[in-house]
Amino acid sequence: MNQVTQSRIRALRSRVRRTRLGLLIARLRRRRTLGDELAAAVLKRAKDIPTFTTQEELQALHYLAMQCHEGANALEIGSYLGASACYLAASLVGRKGKLICIDTWANETMPEGTRDTFAEFQRNTAEVSNIITTIKKRSESIEESELPSSIALAFIDGDHSYDAVKCDVKLLAPRIEEAGVLAFHDIYYFEGVSRVVGELLITGKWRAAGQISNLIWLKNQHFTQ
Ligand SMILES: C[S@@+](CC[C@H](N)C(=O)[O-])C[C@H]1O[C@@H](n2cnc3c(N)ncnc32)[C@H](O)[C@@H]1O
Repeated sequence: MNQVTQSRIRALRSRVRRTRLGLLIARLRRRRTLGDELAAAVLKRAKDIPTFTTQEELQALHYLAMQCHEGANALEIGSYLGASACYLAASLVGRKGKLICIDTWANETMPEGTRDTFAEFQRNTAEVSNIITTIKKRSESIEESELPSSIALAFIDGDHSYDAVKCDVKLLAPRIEEAGVLAFHDIYYFEGVSRVVGELLITGKWRAAGQISNLIWLKNQHFTQ
């Protein structure tokens, strides 16, 4: 093969490589754009979902889920009508994350009294339902086998009594992965929540990583020092 032919082959190969790379980059960009568009639409609609969680607390949850790695598992106990689920899911949707939502959807412990909220939750989270797994039962009756062994972010906002929060932590804390986050709502309003958070901090295995209003989040200290 003469030199001219060799250099033509090299040029051709390089063009093929550039084209393949270009196609790959375009595909990745398109995937990200679709994820971003969906996330923006979900967040826009989520603003109208009734909730006791404030807008800045919801934004903080969105930010925490944004820090999760690709393919992360996130989980919340207490989903109500889906507001916090939407803010979490909007961050996870573009990065192949999953969200497990645990609730009785019987509106227990809520000021308005008991009622069936499941249909409303499903309607409000329809756009992100492909990444959501619902577990419709009291959190204290969750079997170990129903949960993934590794969770990047867990948000506890169900029954706020001391015993219930303690039980939720017992279930979730061992599953939080290295540098993972355990977030709690209503740290100010419910003594049960603040007591459990205090007990976690005393162990030295968790550190307070942030707080916005009534939402606090702890990090797995053991691995992040
Ligand atoms: C404060 S709301 C959750 C609000 C939601 N995180 C949001 O930001 O919109 C509490 C929810 O916890 C649920 N709940 C109460 N006790 C529970 C329990 N033991 N197990 C599971 N869910 C429970 C209620 O049905 C209710 O939907």
